[in-house]
Amino acid sequence: MKQKVTKIGILSSGGDSPGMNAAIRAVVRTGIHHGLEVFGIMRGYSGMVEDDIIKMESRSVANIIQRGGTILKTARCKDFFEYEGRKKAYNNLKKRGINGLVILGGDGSFRGAQIFSSEFDIPCIGLPGTIDKDIAGTDFTIGFDTAVNTAVEAIDKIRDTADAHDRLFVIEVMGRDAGYIALHSGIATGAENILIPERKTVMNDILDSLEEKEKRQKLVNLIVVAEGDEFGGAQEVANVIKKKLPNLEIRVAILGHIQRGGSPTCMDRLLASRMGYHAVECLVEGKHNVFVGIVNNKMHYTPLNEAVKKKQVISQEWMKIVKILST
Ligand code: F6P
Repeated sequence: MKQKVTKIGILSSGGDSPGMNAAIRAVVRTGIHHGLEVFGIMRGYSGMVEDDIIKMESRSVANIIQRGGTILKTARCKDFFEYEGRKKAYNNLKKRGINGLVILGGDGSFRGAQIFSSEFDIPCIGLPGTIDKDIAGTDFTIGFDTAVNTAVEAIDKIRDTADAHDRLFVIEVMGRDAGYIALHSGIATGAENILIPERKTVMNDILDSLEEKEKRQKLVNLIVVAEGDEFGGAQEVANVIKKKLPNLEIRVAILGHIQRGGSPTCMDRLLASRMGYHAVECLVEGKHNVFVGIVNNKMHYTPLNEAVKKKQVISQEWMKIVKILST
């Protein structure tokens, strides 16, 4: 019979994402609502290994729903890759009686949780917190919407100056090896071309269309490139274009870590609150070692050992729309 969960720990791991604080708040307050003791584990799995664990009260999570980053801090922990490190982590939980964990992070963090829960009797629940939206089993991840909106705001500003100078801008957005941020922000800003790792880029087509636009004096062009694109990023794409079309004035903008920060959007706050609440419900109800997702606006639970990176399937409809609307 499964042991009743009475004390739970929450940690954030891997790259931070806006909305993590809203999720921590939801986990702490739902836990307290159920009469559980809740502990915050600092710096991801590192805090578990190094025994940096603090008791959380309802007031510990006051005034954080609107803040980016994570009050628990985050890290990528090497020690947790080793059995010895995980054993140390387990002992630190055990001595406090912590018998349930919520892990806020990406697929790498879920893999750590899966190994940990299979070695030791601590049920783990994952919450998908990453700006990359690259996890199968959920339509959205906590932080993606904010990151896309940050990118859209930045690209809109770039369009103003691109227009003033009649320039071509190649703009790089984050996403690791996934193209979702590029796809969504590119469509929303009316980019002429969107380069993503999941779709083969035919550079000659891009060059042909730029040449054709140059002839008819359409000189303002925005190309949004995902950092994981096959060309190796915006600078490389700009170099290829410059070689073939030397008359074009080209500038490169790499948006970088601004996409990871800032106050979460309403959508991310709602997502984080709903998912955080359900993470604790899972622990209480005995639905263990899954991560919490939302598919078609309904809760969806995927076993941690099935947590995989999601490969984008881009609908032909979207690509057609991008082409028609950017002429
Ligand atoms: O996974 C989130 C992410 O921001 C990716 O989009 C990016 O490739 C990576 O993390 C950057 O990591 P770091 O902050 O360690 O440079």
